[in-house]
Amino acid sequence: MASSPTTSATPSTFSSTLPVLPGTYPERAPLDLFRTAVAIHINRVIPELSLEKIFDGVDILKKEGDFSVAMPRFRLPGVKPDVSAATVASSFQPDEYIETVKAVGPFLYFNARLSTFARIVLRTIDRETFRTLDGVPRYGTNDSGKGKKVLIEYSSPNIAKQFHIGHLRSTIIGQFLINLHKANGWETLSMNYLGDWGRQFGLIAVGFEKYGSQEELEKDAIKHLYDVYVKINNDASTDESVLDKAREHFRQMEDGGESALKQWRIWRDYSIEKYREEYGRLNVSFDVYSGESQVSLESQSAPLERLEKMGLISEEKGAKLVDLTQWKLEKAVVRKKDGTSIYLTRDIGAAIERYEKYKFDKMIYVVASQQDLHVAQFFKILSLLEYPWAGRLQHVNYGLVLGMSTRKGTAVFLDDIIREASEIMHEQMKKNPDKYSAVEDPEGTSREIGITAVKIQDMAAKRINNYNFNWSRMLSFEGDTGPYLQYAHVRLASMARKNPELLPLRTADPSDPKSSIDIDTDSLTEPKVREILMLLASYPDVVKTAMEKYEPSGVVTFCFRLSHAISSAWETLSVKGDTDRSRASARLWLFLSAKEVLGAAMRLLSLMPLERM
Ligand code: ARG
Repeated sequence: MASSPTTSATPSTFSSTLPVLPGTYPERAPLDLFRTAVAIHINRVIPELSLEKIFDGVDILKKEGDFSVAMPRFRLPGVKPDVSAATVASSFQPDEYIETVKAVGPFLYFNARLSTFARIVLRTIDRETFRTLDGVPRYGTNDSGKGKKVLIEYSSPNIAKQFHIGHLRSTIIGQFLINLHKANGWETLSMNYLGDWGRQFGLIAVGFEKYGSQEELEKDAIKHLYDVYVKINNDASTDESVLDKAREHFRQMEDGGESALKQWRIWRDYSIEKYREEYGRLNVSFDVYSGESQVSLESQSAPLERLEKMGLISEEKGAKLVDLTQWKLEKAVVRKKDGTSIYLTRDIGAAIERYEKYKFDKMIYVVASQQDLHVAQFFKILSLLEYPWAGRLQHVNYGLVLGMSTRKGTAVFLDDIIREASEIMHEQMKKNPDKYSAVEDPEGTSREIGITAVKIQDMAAKRINNYNFNWSRMLSFEGDTGPYLQYAHVRLASMARKNPELLPLRTADPSDPKSSIDIDTDSLTEPKVREILMLLASYPDVVKTAMEKYEPSGVVTFCFRLSHAISSAWETLSVKGDTDRSRASARLWLFLSAKEVLGAAMRLLSLMPLERM
């Protein structure tokens, strides 16, 4: 994705006279502005409460009003909460931002003035969607990460083994986290830490002599190496000498034997090439392809020596271990009896090297919850080693995917998943020949819908939950699925195609992409408008929460809520049939803004919003 500058001039200058509270972004997040307005009303009556404190107590609501405040939370000495609520309500004077207030017991409910609200929300979206960062519109985001660097390690499959669905989850969640951080101003570094070292490479070397084919390797290294691995593993179960040879070969690799390494490097390179291609289709990319092989022996042994000096190492049957039982993390083996390097020690060394090289402010590991203990162990060991940056490491874990298989069987590769999802979608699309013929690239489109289906299924629930992989449910257009979401976006996109006479909305100077839209929004009066605007305005909060919890599910839920609100608005807010041209334009603006925001949320989730399908 191309990145465009983020420093573009603000087209319609933001002109609010309200104070800007710390940590709020009123010119980018409309609700920050309106919450401040609510806080001012309360502050006027209760000056002993600070604006900031009141602001924190302003919640968004749907039924009783746009905003609510629970007075008891302020614990005002000597005043009953319902009395203070009543006082605020009785001395209320409507203003540009807030139109009404209602006190119900100790609660206050405020409503925004719809005309101002509509103008500000739509203008903010108009202004902010011009500013994209690597394809992700800035609306909804803020600069909280400015000047900070995050390294996120995700996907991390093992060469010559299956790219299983667990790796796919890491890939999907990791790319979301990269997009999220980037959008919030962080400098990001995406890293794939390949399982590209270990005994299996000795086996593959032996197997390759017998079963390997250069041609197959070039065609699809990932599958071919896996096939070789499976076959030789099979041989090894009946023939002891295979394992001996494999062991010997891996020893040569660890000792730096050039001919053994040369071959291994070729396998690695071909595999990475293939991965790159598959990730590309998923809208995923990595700044660095690292891997277990890249961790130097020195970085692995130095920390062990230090642990030894600190008296933290004990020996058991020739193996060295660190006792972490007082933290309920068991005893961690850091060196095997035969002296070969192991996964844990490599992770310790890798973290040290990464800090030295990148000096990150935060490093996130997106690794399955099955490895909770492993990750907790090396985090703990790094902190015992007193690295000052050890506290900057975070583990983002996730649950299992159950019941995954394709029409071909249960050994599933990423390739197969993408292909199967696209094929099924393609068959579906062909069922509607009219629409089908209007789609420029049916294969690409069906693939995108299929990938959306897989990703949405994955990100719809909290990441720690397990879920069942279910082709027919995820590929359905009914219910909260990926295809439904793409459909909702396509329908919004069709609004512009169906109403060319109302376009362009930006009349100031259409050739200048930075000119702002200037449409009178006073004709937008329906409750449905308020509902949609409220959703659009809440998007920055959704992003903020996602950032706090590292959860994509909130963004997915937001997408569905917005899509549902839109789909129930087509009739009440008709554009095509509206004889009042200025109202039709205002409505179109609302719908196109909804498209921008839905598209922004989808991009954040690493989806490619479609224009047609
Ligand atoms: N390659 C590992 C696996 O497939 C995952 C690596 C996770 N990252 C790490 N730094 N240990 O199980």
